[in-house]
Amino acid sequence: MTLRLSVIGTGYLGATHAACMSFLGFEVVGLDTDPAKVALLAQGKVPFYEPELEELLAQEIASGRLTFTTDINAVADCDVHFICVGTPQKAGSLAADLTYVDASLDAVARVAKNGSLVVGKSTVPVGTAARLRARLQEINPGADLAWNPEFLREGFAVDDTLRPNRLVVGVTSDAAENILKEVYASNLKDGTPWVRADLPTAELVKVAANSFLATKISFINAMAEICEAAGGDVTVLAQAIGYDPRIGNRFLQAGIGFGGGCLPKDIRAFMARAQELGADQALEFLREIDSINLRARQRVIELVRKDLGENLQGKRVAVLGAAFKPDSDDVRDSPALDIAAQIHAAGADVVIFDPKANESAAKRFPALTYVSSAEECFQGADIVLHLTEWKQFRELDPAQLKGLVKTPIIIDGRNALNREAWKAAGWHFRALGRADS
Ligand code: UDX
Repeated sequence: MTLRLSVIGTGYLGATHAACMSFLGFEVVGLDTDPAKVALLAQGKVPFYEPELEELLAQEIASGRLTFTTDINAVADCDVHFICVGTPQKAGSLAADLTYVDASLDAVARVAKNGSLVVGKSTVPVGTAARLRARLQEINPGADLAWNPEFLREGFAVDDTLRPNRLVVGVTSDAAENILKEVYASNLKDGTPWVRADLPTAELVKVAANSFLATKISFINAMAEICEAAGGDVTVLAQAIGYDPRIGNRFLQAGIGFGGGCLPKDIRAFMARAQELGADQALEFLREIDSINLRARQRVIELVRKDLGENLQGKRVAVLGAAFKPDSDDVRDSPALDIAAQIHAAGADVVIFDPKANESAAKRFPALTYVSSAEECFQGADIVLHLTEWKQFRELDPAQLKGLVKTPIIIDGRNALNREAWKAAGWHFRALGRADS
């Protein structure tokens, strides 16, 4: 008999997980407390931009295997319940807010059938899984709990879910592991590495991975600061150190740093948890990683002032990109939007174009001006800032765009544009970590 799965929380992670599990042939019920979101998903519409997801969702709904509901009773006969709700940063603290995880656990514990498995996928502070497992067994002794962190990247969510580079399961029994092996049978057949861990290790794998990635980015951004001071070029430096396979060339793109719904809040929550555990010294370096990351945003603003003068009143600043990274409309803790908002607050007239994130950015910062093409964005600009490296920005024609701006100055905040081409077209080109530009 094919397993019946529920996915609790249908945000980024949950909606993708539900559609992908249905694609693998399971019957899946997606549950959310937000009726508007459920109504949208039930029509095959995704409330955010993620390549491939909408097509997959529509296809799976049409197959009859995938349904969405707000009714907790509709998941009572499921064999496995995936908890995929958000764990945002708590207001006024570095720690994660576990309200949604706790509420989901309580809700599912009350309806879960005997022998079913609740599987946490949300990113949580270490120790949460053991606490939730105790709570689950207090309410429902017939159910068990496992932890199965996800590593999906926005922009690649479907692919990362269907073809993960590893599967990590935190379990306390063989029975729980076997259920998860049944869920991920097709990945196991494909040879995906399978790591069985205890509950705390499984929780830690996720935050350790994100801390490592954040560290790599801040490392290269620290090198960018040094390159600027010493007259070097961080893009060449990154290329050269990246050839060492122990270092690797990925996540060494210097620029305005990391943002999004995961990396910034995960490293902060990790520090907060380490402090509770009395191990804060071990993660002291993450504080520095966070500072280097935030400093990169200030360095772009300093470059703008260098070119336009201290007083930005009335200056027109064109901003390419608002999303925290390309192929996404997510503006949570977006370095691009943060810089744009700070420059606006300093009195400049900021005009933004993002291929997908204009709408989500406008919700957060309605006072900025949003336009629907790069050409409109460049019109009359005193300076252009390239802040999210969408592919289409690399394909812009610098010679044609030069005719639209007031002064041809561009700052490449992502080190992704072809400097020589822009310079050859007569632009004054600046970039983070490249002293000669
Ligand atoms: C991240 C992890 O990669 C993923 O495994 C985890 O499940 C969730 O968090 P995501 O938030 O989608 O995924 O973004 P990611 O691709 O990791 O990029 C994070 C940020 O780092 C972006 O703002 C990106 O622009 C920035 N970045 C990335 C750099 O500044 N330089 C780089 O070299 C790489």
